[in-house]
Amino acid sequence: MSLLDDIEPLKQAALAELKAAADLAALEQAKGAWLGPHGKFTALMKQLGALPKEERPAAGKRINQTKVELEAAMTDRRRELELKAAQPKEPTDFTLPGRRRPLGKLHPLTQVTEDIVRSFRKIGFAVADGPEVETEYYCFDALNTPQDHPARDVQDTFYVEGTDGRLLRTHTSSVQIRVMKKQAPPVRILVPGRVYRRDTPDATHNPTFHQIEGLYVDRQVTVGDLKGTVEYVFRQLLGEETRIRFRPHYFSYTEPSFEIDFSNALTKKMGKEWLEIAGCGMVHPQVFENVGYDPEIWTGWAFGFGIERIAMIRYGINDIRLFYENDLRFLRQF
Ligand code: DAH
Repeated sequence: MSLLDDIEPLKQAALAELKAAADLAALEQAKGAWLGPHGKFTALMKQLGALPKEERPAAGKRINQTKVELEAAMTDRRRELELKAAQPKEPTDFTLPGRRRPLGKLHPLTQVTEDIVRSFRKIGFAVADGPEVETEYYCFDALNTPQDHPARDVQDTFYVEGTDGRLLRTHTSSVQIRVMKKQAPPVRILVPGRVYRRDTPDATHNPTFHQIEGLYVDRQVTVGDLKGTVEYVFRQLLGEETRIRFRPHYFSYTEPSFEIDFSNALTKKMGKEWLEIAGCGMVHPQVFENVGYDPEIWTGWAFGFGIERIAMIRYGINDIRLFYENDLRFLRQF
């Protein structure tokens, strides 16, 4: 047997062993056994010197080629094993239920909004939406607000520069007009949204806050419907023992108009029998005229709640600015 005849079987045996290595440690061991200083291939190299001189170059070349092949096979196997090691031990079962990791929560203002929306959905209200950058027409004119009303003053309202009179809406009531102009009666909508007023921030004021507007238009709608609905919603929101009362007020878009007070354990805790919570009233006939509804046929009511105010009362929060600071120590409590 010549040395050359030994190469091929040795190579096959080495390849088989490398491919069979079950993990990286086994692979390193196989590498040592074949290519290490005392390895079988290294031993073969050492026998080269014993060959007749004319056979040496060919044999040396074959051995070197084989070494290169074996090293390439090793590298391949190492990659395979590394990939396998990085894989999870068991296949992922995507049908398993999610794990209970702390996944974050809804902002308290979002929670209150969703609670109110849920109550109104049960009685057939749909959510509507409108722009935050509004025209004076939708925010004031169509709502029957006189030209000289203080709300229109630049002291109270943010006007957007270079837009011929566009402003940041001061209330969600603008969306009443947008919806009625687009849709024939009857109407049952709820409008949660952000509003803006030129206030200096303090414990109860912020230049932007949130309201939720409601509008109900149908034939023969009464103040009784309004009061019953408000009572139903506030009892869901603030507890079954909650009482409400209406006090006469003035809004240009409703007649009669009321402020809504409520009373329950929460108001008592704050040392008050009654707390003011919202404005409402029967839609003014002029507003119906403005949107093209016949006030002889259609009647309706509307209301506007401040979401921050409700959330503050509900959760006992004494500073409105906490809602906007994104402090997780605060937000995690809800
Ligand atoms: N827009 C009023 C405000 O911002 C709230 C309001 C009062 C809305 C009476 C109404 C309403 O729809 O009928 O203070």
